[in-house]
Amino acid sequence: MRNVRGMFIVIEGLDGAGTTTQASKLVRTLEANGRTVVATREPSTGPFGVMARQALGRRLVMPGGDRIDPAVLALLFAADRMDHLAALVRPALARGAVVVSDRYVHSSLAYQSTENDAEWIAEINSRADVADLTIFIEVPAEECARRIMARGDATEIFEAVETLQRVGEAYEAAIAKRPDNVVRVDGTLSIDAVAALIATEVAQRLG
Ligand code: TYD
Repeated sequence: MRNVRGMFIVIEGLDGAGTTTQASKLVRTLEANGRTVVATREPSTGPFGVMARQALGRRLVMPGGDRIDPAVLALLFAADRMDHLAALVRPALARGAVVVSDRYVHSSLAYQSTENDAEWIAEINSRADVADLTIFIEVPAEECARRIMARGDATEIFEAVETLQRVGEAYEAAIAKRPDNVVRVDGTLSIDAVAALIATEVAQRLG
C-alpha cells in the first residue's frame, strides 16, 4: 500500500498580520483542488486550549483576580500543543490529510519569550513535531497596530505598537532558533495577493 502521509502547514504572524484570514483562504483553495483538509488552530479547541483562551481573556485568573503567571500560561500553551498533536494533527496526517493550523510552536517561541526565558520556552516546546511548512506572514508592527485599531480591538495604539514590536523581535529570534521549514510572505500586499503567494508555496511542496 502507498505510504500516505499528509502535510502539516502552519500560518504564523503578529496579531493583525492576517493569519486567520489567510489560513481559511488556504483551506478553501486546497479543498477546491480536491484535497482532504483539516483546518485547525492554536490555542486549540481541546481542553487545554480552552484554558489558554480563558487565561488570555481573563476568565482564568489568580485568586485575587490578577492574570495568571506567565510561566503557567506558557505551560498551558505547550500542553495544548502536545494534546493538539496527539488528538488531532497526527491522526489527520496519518489519514493523509493536509492539516492547516492557524498558529503553532513559533507563536509560543515569540509571544511567551517576551515574558519568560526564551531557552525555557524552547525547551518546553522541544517535543512538538516540526511542521512541513510554516508560512510567516510579515507585516510591520505599526501596520498590525493600525489594523487592530481599525477593527476596534485595542484602545492604546502606542501600547499596541510597543507590544507588537517586542513580539516581532521575538519572532525573528524564534525563526533563527527553529528555522524548520519557515517561509516568509509579504503580508502588506492585498489579501488576495498574499493568498496567492501562500498558495504557490504550498503547491510547490504538495506537487
Ligand atoms: P488568535 O489566533 O489571534 O485568536 P483570536 O483570533 O481568537 O483572537 O490568537 C490568540 C492569541 O494567543 C494571540 O494573541 C497569540 C497568542 N498565542 C500565544 O501567546 N502563544 C501561543 O502559543 C499561541 C498558539 C497563541
